[in-house]
Amino acid sequence: MFIKTLIGSLFVQTLIFPCAVIATDIPNDRQQELLHLIKHDCGSCHGMTLKGGLGTSLTPEKLKDKSPEALSSIIMNGVKGTPMPPWKGILDKQEVSWMVKQLKTGILESN
Ligand code: HEC
Repeated sequence: MFIKTLIGSLFVQTLIFPCAVIATDIPNDRQQELLHLIKHDCGSCHGMTLKGGLGTSLTPEKLKDKSPEALSSIIMNGVKGTPMPPWKGILDKQEVSWMVKQLKTGILESN
């Protein structure tokens, strides 16, 4: 009974506070740097508004059927034989999965 209540309350907390969890994982300064990187570095190929250029469009609509894991892996490892470079020397896994969340929710469009 106790365990059930405990699991229940943890579950409710992750539902209610997902934003708080994301915000505390990566320091605010670093989040700003990552957003800047998405706009300027990723944007240099994918377009400043991420609607595509040399690279493919990275809008939420385009990414909605792709799993976060697959997208993170592409960003970490790049795509061989295309200009998409690997970012794993610059970004860690947690940062990349945070960026994928931003891309999938389209946070850049409101900025
Ligand atoms: C030098 C150009 C270049 C830069 C810089 C670049 N990309 Fe790419 N990216 C590409 C190209 C080209 C493709 C398409 C590869 C292919 O044909 O499969 C791609 C593909 C992708 C994909 C797969 C999209 C899909 O629909 O499967 C993702 C996700 C992605 N890039 C994210 C990023 C992110 C995030 C950054 C910045 C950290 C970035 N890219 C920087 C050129 C670039």
